[in-house]
Amino acid sequence: MITGGAGFIGSNLAIKLVELEANVTIIDSFIPEYGGNLFNLEPIKNEVKLNISDVRDEHSMKYLIKDQDYLLNLAGQTSHIDSMNDPYADLEINAKAQLSILEACKRYNPTIKIVFASTRQIYGKPQYLPVDESHPLYPVDVNGINKMAGEWYHIVYNDVYKIRSVVLRLTNTYGPRMRVKDARQTFLGIWIKNVIEGNKISVFGDGKQIRDFNYVDDVVNAILLSAQSDNVNGMIFNLGADDPINLQDTAKLMIEISDKASYELVPFPAERKVIDIGNYYADYKKIKSKLGWQPKESLKDGLKLTIDFYKKYHKYYWDS
Ligand SMILES: NC(=O)c1ccc[n+]([C@@H]2O[C@H](COP(=O)([O-])OP(=O)(O)OC[C@H]3O[C@@H](n4cnc5c(N)ncnc54)[C@H](O)[C@@H]3O)[C@@H](O)[C@H]2O)c1
Repeated sequence: MITGGAGFIGSNLAIKLVELEANVTIIDSFIPEYGGNLFNLEPIKNEVKLNISDVRDEHSMKYLIKDQDYLLNLAGQTSHIDSMNDPYADLEINAKAQLSILEACKRYNPTIKIVFASTRQIYGKPQYLPVDESHPLYPVDVNGINKMAGEWYHIVYNDVYKIRSVVLRLTNTYGPRMRVKDARQTFLGIWIKNVIEGNKISVFGDGKQIRDFNYVDDVVNAILLSAQSDNVNGMIFNLGADDPINLQDTAKLMIEISDKASYELVPFPAERKVIDIGNYYADYKKIKSKLGWQPKESLKDGLKLTIDFYKKYHKYYWDS
């Protein structure tokens, strides 16, 4: 079962699992501001069970969780700005619903194995680089606080009730099926749209902020490795990349690939500046040593695959 399975990472995960002949049930609420998109499931629409429900609905979750072997728990409110404008919705989805999912597992399916998608956002502004799992947690926004609670509920239920759970702290993930019609999910989304339409990309500040990016197939692989291994239950892992890059160079790379568009440096919008984390890239040695995970796709190749996907299918992702 994949919560958030019609969203970006969840749908790519579902496609991979169908390829591996798993029986897949998808739970998604399709709240329009989030990343769920029916077209994401087009290649597997006849091969998965899709249940349109909200993880905040304790009654449906109790029923759905029964008889599942794995819960790949990806449903979330992902917008940092939205978490500041509507902190209670973020709290309900990213924290409270996680607790009720775990309660449902404890009661109705205690042998289930869970992988939870957490985020690098919970570290806040890095105190050193690269950021490893021992780095202090100091979220800079409400989303970071609630995701932190969400991941720690999983660890506590693993340790106290033996509900086997693994937590992955994802970094910026990109690839086909991400929300690109606006910058709600990530700035990369709107950049992709602008590049394809031949518009200017806006890079905030001096463009020197460093990030690490994972192509979605690499993240799917990390989720599957974590699900399969019982040696890592109760553990928290960073994902990361070998080729951190600043935002200005990322913009240049996208323009080079698309052979269209241009970029400009623009002042940081005030509401983004206050929650910006500066430079970030992760140390992912722990997951490499425990599970042998390592990202395979380079940023250049991954961006090319992504841009090609949206060139072909953009009408399913934005009106133009
Ligand atoms: N994409 C990234 O760069 C990134 C980085 C760090 C962490 N993550 C985490 O990975 C997970 C998946 O992210 P994504 O990028 O695929 O985002 P996404 O928005 O594309 O997917 C999330 C899915 O969850 C669904 N959802 C949201 N609230 C729901 C609810 N109450 N009930 C049922 N479904 C609900 C949405 O409809 C959406 O389809 C999230 O938990 C996110 O916090 C993603």
